[in-house]
Amino acid sequence: GREDSNFKPEGSTEIRQAAAAFNLMRERIQRTITQRTEMLASISHDLRTPLTRMKLQLAMIENSAEIGDLRSDVEEMENMVEEYLAFARGEVAEKVQNINLSRILQGVINRIQSTSVSINLNTKQIHYVPLKPNSFKRAITNIINNASNYGNQIDIIVRKLPGSIIIQIDDNGPGIPLKDREDVFKPFYRLDVARNPDTGGSGLGLTIARDVARAHGGDIFIEDSPNGGARINMRLPL
Ligand SMILES: Nc1ncnc2c1ncn2[C@@H]1O[C@H](COP(=O)(O)OP(=O)(O)OP(=O)(O)O)[C@@H](O)[C@H]1O
Ligand SMILES: [Mg+2]
Repeated sequence: GREDSNFKPEGSTEIRQAAAAFNLMRERIQRTITQRTEMLASISHDLRTPLTRMKLQLAMIENSAEIGDLRSDVEEMENMVEEYLAFARGEVAEKVQNINLSRILQGVINRIQSTSVSINLNTKQIHYVPLKPNSFKRAITNIINNASNYGNQIDIIVRKLPGSIIIQIDDNGPGIPLKDREDVFKPFYRLDVARNPDTGGSGLGLTIARDVARAHGGDIFIEDSPNGGARINMRLPL
């Protein structure tokens, strides 16, 4: 696009200074993005080798229910790594497909193997939504993992609006204070770590989830849940 053409320093001194400062800032942002992308690429690349090894080792173990789960986890990790690599290479990795929303949500829920949390999916109707299935699953998994880190009762409600679908994920945890509702989407941002020392995350879950929603032309916003905790809303266009 137009990103490459610098603003020409024309006009009064102030305007010229502002233009120069703007160009400098843009260069700095560009450099940061490049560094992040390179890091993502090299981490993904390094993870591929041990993952392949794990897959080979698993193939030599006799079948059982646990091995089956492990195998599909390793497979999922491989897919993720492939996607990160594709993303870092600037490829649009996934094709949009018309997906049965309740079915894909149920699939994500089934894979969450926490016994200490009860998840209730409430969809009255069948909706087919244009989705990139793997990125969508990752985004929803991140949100549900958060909800189960902070609460033990999760209610997922799907609502149809004109032209869009809202997926609401309610929990009964401590909630997210109004003043933090933008910051939690920033990379590496975590609220009051003392509040939940045992949920040692990296602060990327919501950043990725919002990225995915926006890549679909939607967004994520936070409200209070009627159960006392947080309500995370993912809006997707139809
Ligand atoms: N459902 C929730 N209830 C309360 N606080 C939440 C909830 N979801 C997110 N947060 C707060 O927002 C912060 C950022 O969430 P995010 O998912 O981006 O990172 P994380 O869970 O800390 O780490 P990661 O997801 O990368 O493992 C969390 O550390 C937590 O403080
Ligand atoms: Mg998280």
